Amino acid sequence: MRPNKQEIIDMLNTRGEENLKALFARAYEVKKKYVGTKVYFRGLIEISNICSKNCYYCGIRSGNPNFPRYTISMDEALQEAKWALDQRYGSLVIQAGERIDAAWTDFITELVREIKEMSSGKLGITLSLGEQTEETYQKWFDAGAHRYLLRVETTNRELYKKLHPADHSFENRLASLRLLRKVGYQTGTGVMVGLPGQSIEDIADDILFFYDEDVDMLGMGPYIPHQDTPLNHLVDGFDTQEALLLGLKLIAACRIVLKDVNIATTTALHALHPGGREKGLLAGANVLMPNITDPKYREGYQLYEGKPGMDENAVQVVEELQRSIEAIGETVGFDEWGDPKHFFRRQQQ
Ligand code: 5AD
Ligand code: SF4
Repeated sequence: MRPNKQEIIDMLNTRGEENLKALFARAYEVKKKYVGTKVYFRGLIEISNICSKNCYYCGIRSGNPNFPRYTISMDEALQEAKWALDQRYGSLVIQAGERIDAAWTDFITELVREIKEMSSGKLGITLSLGEQTEETYQKWFDAGAHRYLLRVETTNRELYKKLHPADHSFENRLASLRLLRKVGYQTGTGVMVGLPGQSIEDIADDILFFYDEDVDMLGMGPYIPHQDTPLNHLVDGFDTQEALLLGLKLIAACRIVLKDVNIATTTALHALHPGGREKGLLAGANVLMPNITDPKYREGYQLYEGKPGMDENAVQVVEELQRSIEAIGETVGFDEWGDPKHFFRRQQQ
């Protein structure tokens, strides 16, 4: 049955310590019942910060000339992938700005193939590389990628228009999301919350959209203003606490409503609070993406202010992360893909 919109709005409007505790506890019960308390790691490689798009909220948009652009070489990327394999991470996420030229799409095809070969098929691969043609999605799928993340950012068409230049289109984004499912990917999307001009009702509509589109995975987070963007006037009054809380309520509401999808506890939560990702797990998330990109590139991938730049490709950090997860009573699903249960349920239907 389609979830009730007013109930979602009420969850998102939760205030007061006791009520919030109750909301997160309810989400956690649903999580335990439907997906368990294992956290799946996806080693995140931010493979290039070159982007042909110019989203007004994003620090690495094409219109920002204030930092150098990079692309990690095949060898380096393979080394990072090997490191993740050695740490017994089940999967990788390969993320970059959007590029559709053949040199780029061929590079990714080759990279996916090589990672599969190097790991004897053991590493699961999620791609997060924007809107592409069906042929490109198919090529990457055939090379061995089996999950794809493409955030719709907001389902409010008017707001989408305000946050993007005229040549970006929500309809194209939606068409791409549907292509991904058609090709056979485990498909993920997501939105930002706390966007200027976004209402709680809009966010409830976003969650209903996830339900209607029957998505398998979610990667969502609070919007965090960036100095070098057209929205830089929002940097000063930005309320970190409020943004974190809204991000957590969003996770909880999605878990309660969507039940068996995978939900990532994202870096944006970490940027707002050192224990933000653990809070995300306690609010209902079950996937965590340690950033394993070589730290020398980190400066160049500032989507928003204060994005954590610390070095998660050190063995010590993996151990710390594992300890902080065990401290909240969960375990890490080492050597497991941790595919979204939702995907298999919809295959059976
Ligand atoms: N704050 C939070 N998230 C952001 N993203 C881009 N810019 C920002 C920002 N300022 C997110 C978008 C995009 C993902 C790669 O990063 O949702 O899909
Ligand atoms: Fe490019 Fe993605 Fe940033 Fe938009 S949000 S400018 S597509 S990297």
